Amino acid sequence: MNILETKNLYKQYKQGEISVNALSGINIQIPEKAFTALLGPSGSGKSTLLNIFGLIDQPTQGKLYFCGKDITAASEKELTAIRRHQLGFIFQGFNLVPVMTVFDNVEYPLTLLGLDKKTRYERVNLMLDRVGISQFKKHLPDQISGGQKQRVAIARALITKPKLVIADEPTANLDTKTATGIIDLMYQMHQDFGTSFIIATHDERMSSHCHNSYQLHDGVLQ
Ligand SMILES: Nc1ncnc2c1ncn2[C@@H]1O[C@H](COP(=O)(O)OP(=O)(O)OP(=O)(O)O)[C@@H](O)[C@H]1O
Ligand SMILES: [Mg+2]
Repeated sequence: MNILETKNLYKQYKQGEISVNALSGINIQIPEKAFTALLGPSGSGKSTLLNIFGLIDQPTQGKLYFCGKDITAASEKELTAIRRHQLGFIFQGFNLVPVMTVFDNVEYPLTLLGLDKKTRYERVNLMLDRVGISQFKKHLPDQISGGQKQRVAIARALITKPKLVIADEPTANLDTKTATGIIDLMYQMHQDFGTSFIIATHDERMSSHCHNSYQLHDGVLQ
């Protein structure tokens, strides 16, 4: 089954007189248990497409399906439920909450799901162990390195056991050695948990791990 699918999707940004066609007629399918790269030059529409996949932004035209269900016109409540239960996010800039510890950052999505404290505690500790950052759990994000921050973000993205993790340039702010470690970790998590990943990237190293890759050019899928 496809987790996400689009049919003839368009996204147009309007700024005063000027309008930009960021996406034009996208037909794409993201299957279960896939590790997929989304490639394309700067401005080609990668982030725009991932924001639509993440239910953070809406298309101007076309249809979006989640697990076979048309969610193009779904209510905010429905979209929030899918976002919280089924999706995880990893960003170039890590996007950790600066005033929360590593532990609290990873715990937060479970709190939103209403899980009790003991379950949260056990799951977060297991996950921190799994991504190799247990010793930093009481640190704040600005007390750890970029690579460590991205490990926290990976833990946070996977803690709810989502169907799909959406990663926008997850290695762009990291040096080569650290980036390779992060790619390997994401791939391991994909294999261990069966989670699908879609990763927007300029990173050539990523492609060796990816089962399939899509190319965007000026908002058109090649
Ligand atoms: N909020 C916005 N308002 C207006 N135009 C936007 C907005 N966001 C993106 N765009 C435009 O849409 C197009 C696609 O941008 P997008 O950020 O999706 O590209 P990208 O492939 O992610 O690029 P990069 O590799 O630099 O991150 C660009 O022309 C961009 O200027
Ligand atoms: Mg982008």
